[in-house]
Amino acid sequence: MRLANKVTLITGGGTGLGLATAQMFHREGARVAICGRRADVLARASQSIGPGVLAFPCDVSQEGPVNDLVAAVVKAFGRLDILVHAAGVNLQREDITETTLDGFRKTFDINTTSVFLVGRAVVRAMTDGGAIVLIGSVVAEIGSHKRFAYSGSKAALIGLGRQMAVSLGGRDIRVNIVQPGMVHTEMTAGLLDGMKPETLDRMRKAYPLNRLGKPEDVAEACLFLASDAASWITGVALMVDGGLSAQ
Ligand SMILES: NC(=O)c1ccc[n+]([C@@H]2O[C@H](COP(=O)([O-])OP(=O)(O)OC[C@H]3O[C@@H](n4cnc5c(N)ncnc54)[C@H](OP(=O)(O)O)[C@@H]3O)[C@@H](O)[C@H]2O)c1
Repeated sequence: MRLANKVTLITGGGTGLGLATAQMFHREGARVAICGRRADVLARASQSIGPGVLAFPCDVSQEGPVNDLVAAVVKAFGRLDILVHAAGVNLQREDITETTLDGFRKTFDINTTSVFLVGRAVVRAMTDGGAIVLIGSVVAEIGSHKRFAYSGSKAALIGLGRQMAVSLGGRDIRVNIVQPGMVHTEMTAGLLDGMKPETLDRMRKAYPLNRLGKPEDVAEACLFLASDAASWITGVALMVDGGLSAQ
């Protein structure tokens, strides 16, 4: 067991990459808490992950609820060792001219300000070292036609993560970033499910490893970075993208 008794909070743990990570961490012995906004989704997810999983409805862009969330996790489990911050949104498919100020702000509130709010509360609670994994995106590194606010919000996440890594090293808190390519989840279903087979095939072939990602590909990277196997790794932005960004 690579995470025996490690108390872990996974934001966005009710679906997609967060859920796959919660399932893997639970199998590796972690004591898991998940959060998201939809209580019904969280209830189903915690059932599917296994016994002892706690689910807390919370909007990660809201300061008070985030502080309450972290306090509730510490109260329930007695400590906090690991954060995987997977909560995120891709609200619009837009270029700069199509982006609304409201959409831009909401995207940054949920994808970027949440790194500050959740990160701050978690770091205050990590009294004995810890590991933080932030889920960014490959589009923080490469340009894209229709993800203006989303790409920017994920690029900012890298800066916040590196700043945390440097400033928290002395407390033995490691902070790393995982940057996935395209994986079929709730977030991408609308795009991928509506694609013609030949378009999907073109997308697949754009990846040197000749396939899109699976949620488990991302969960494995989070597991490595959160575990003691990565005990001398901090401030890294790891591409988990089938080689897309290497071209
Ligand atoms: N799938 C991909 O291809 C891909 C690629 C690169 C990066 N990513 C990133 O990976 C992360 C996970 O995405 P996913 O693909 O697994 O999509 P997903 O299934 O839609 O997961 C996003 C999760 O975030 C939660 N969430 C959204 N807004 C929230 C808020 N304000 N407060 C709390 N929770 C919130 C959602 O739950 P509620 O709606 O119930 O709140 C949901 O469980 C995201 O950060 C995404 O940007 C995904």
